[in-house]
Amino acid sequence: MQPSTQQAPGRPLSVAIVGATGAVGAEFIGCLERRNFPVSRLRLLASPRSAGKRTAFRGQEIAIEALNERSFEGIDIALFSAGSGVSKLYAPLAVRAGATVVDNSSAFRMDPDVPLVIPEVNAEAIARHRGIIANPNCVVIVAMAPLWPLHQVNPIRRIVLASYQAASGGGAAMMEELQQATKAYLAERPFAPKVLKHDYAFNLFSHNTKVDFATGYNEEETKVVNETRKIFGEPSLHISPTCIRVPVLRAHAAALTVECERPIAPEEVRAIMSKAPGLRVVDDRINNHFPMPKEASGQDDILVGRIRRDIGDPSGRTVALFVAGDQLLKGAALNAVQIAERLPTVRGAAAAA
Ligand SMILES: NC(=O)c1ccc[n+]([C@@H]2O[C@H](COP(=O)([O-])OP(=O)(O)OC[C@H]3O[C@@H](n4cnc5c(N)ncnc54)[C@H](OP(=O)(O)O)[C@@H]3O)[C@@H](O)[C@H]2O)c1
Repeated sequence: MQPSTQQAPGRPLSVAIVGATGAVGAEFIGCLERRNFPVSRLRLLASPRSAGKRTAFRGQEIAIEALNERSFEGIDIALFSAGSGVSKLYAPLAVRAGATVVDNSSAFRMDPDVPLVIPEVNAEAIARHRGIIANPNCVVIVAMAPLWPLHQVNPIRRIVLASYQAASGGGAAMMEELQQATKAYLAERPFAPKVLKHDYAFNLFSHNTKVDFATGYNEEETKVVNETRKIFGEPSLHISPTCIRVPVLRAHAAALTVECERPIAPEEVRAIMSKAPGLRVVDDRINNHFPMPKEASGQDDILVGRIRRDIGDPSGRTVALFVAGDQLLKGAALNAVQIAERLPTVRGAAAAA
């Protein structure tokens, strides 16, 4: 797929958000506004259910439109977050209409022709796009972005990951289910789950994606392995993931055990991560204060802490740490907007503004 039109540098940009009424869509609107993205016209697209609803952007009310084949006429940048099915169908149409697509779904992530990008890790891959750039899975961004600066200094050989994933990772409906299930539990009322198979109130369970019968790994865990390898450019990196859904409304966390090529001291890891863009070290042993989803919520930075030597590996090559990040922001909307900001047309428009 090749973008069909040449966008003139410096021209103000028309932007479309597909899935504008969703959990990620709302954050897209906030990110564009907060980061002064050079938007001349914003088109908000969702399903026919939402057509006619209104949403504010830069003090103006914009009507939501039902997505259709002609939605991308005149659009320069299309930000997709409406699920894989919608992306598979409409992202190629958007590219044909001349737009560059940044897609939050898993539809194109493992396509060899589609760059899969965390800007702090592999921004250079953006230049190879042929119309579509994919945003990685949310837990991949939150857990793996902090490891990249370490990998540059002391190559990582193996990662063991245990995730603690919030309801927001499953969209607005899963967040609503957690709230309703919790209210029902506290009121001692029966509650029939609609979005999940299991009761979500005061409970946790293995990630709600399909489990491969042969391997025992679910789809989320497979994404963690495959997407990290693609982003890091390390096709044989050893990763052992366990992904768990926890009754937290917003922001994912992960415990990471990371084996490096050479011995490494926790102080060195702390120093590397303190200097890395997009990370904030929260590592207060005296007050037992480490990364928490509540403190990560609404933040652009990924919080990193509990940085310690893995006492299970006497070689000194392994460190353990704990991270938390707002997966609606850095794990989805913010990362996608940061990708778009690196496109030459967006840079040109921002410079001319
Ligand atoms: N939540 C996360 O942390 C996260 C992170 C990374 C990636 N993602 C990906 O982002 C996408 C959306 O996630 P979300 O959490 O924002 O979900 P969500 O809250 O359920 O929102 C889904 C959005 O998609 C729209 N939509 C659904 N079917 C549509 C259709 N046929 N045509 C047009 N629009 C349609 C919905 O519109 P209506 O309101 O009209 O139904 C809504 O705006 C998914 O692909 C997800 O995998 C999510």
